[in-house]
Amino acid sequence: MNFNLNMVLAALLGTLFVLMSVSFVSEAIFDPRLPEKEGFAIAVPEGMQTPKAQSPAATPLAELLANASADQGQQIFKRCQACHSIESGGPNKVGPNLYGVVDRPVASHQGFAYSAAMKEFAEGGQKHWTYENLNAFIAAPRKDVPGTAMGFAGLSSDKDRADLLAYLQTASDTPVPFPEVQAPADTAAGPAPAAAEAPAKSE
Ligand code: HEC
Repeated sequence: MNFNLNMVLAALLGTLFVLMSVSFVSEAIFDPRLPEKEGFAIAVPEGMQTPKAQSPAATPLAELLANASADQGQQIFKRCQACHSIESGGPNKVGPNLYGVVDRPVASHQGFAYSAAMKEFAEGGQKHWTYENLNAFIAAPRKDVPGTAMGFAGLSSDKDRADLLAYLQTASDTPVPFPEVQAPADTAAGPAPAAAEAPAKSE
């Protein structure tokens, strides 16, 4: 069996070699003119193309928040402190006091003169600051609310913003719970993960 296969392979390789030599020689002799247009364009029908490599999806905010550190966030808040106080009843500075800002209606803090842009963003008091829209605002204030008076470039790190939001959560009489982490759909049907049976870690 093996012997036969080897013979077949050897024969094939031999043929290939001969064919290649012939074509090489004949090309040298006949100097073929290549057609203007390539003759072998293969049209791949729509939908059969290999899917483009997907860029890894950004980690959902809920997941980032579940792993966020309010202590780290307190450090990051130092970058906001020049303009914002955060203690209960603290003064408005360049920007409004941020105590209890999570779930507070946008542009609603007493005694602060918000920009027209921020007032418009507030949709007449309809819109509240959620973790989601705080996250978007802090990432790029002037992109999120064009014309805002907040002169801050933004925090580009997802983790820094999550930590900061975890800190903002603590600055409230009634801390707003984080959004729940959604289990990925494809693991929902499978067998129970082994971790579920492992004894709870005592820390
Ligand atoms: C250079 C000053 C400055 C810095 C630094 C700054 N802010 Fe602001 N912030 C403002 C001003 C001014 C406003 C009011 C914006 C407006 O009216 O358009 C504001 C508004 C806000 C609001 C909306 C509050 C409300 O009542 O609707 C939030 C939330 C906020 N800032 C969070 C932050 C966070 C978090 C940081 C730090 C990462 C930060 N800001 C850094 C000046 C600043």
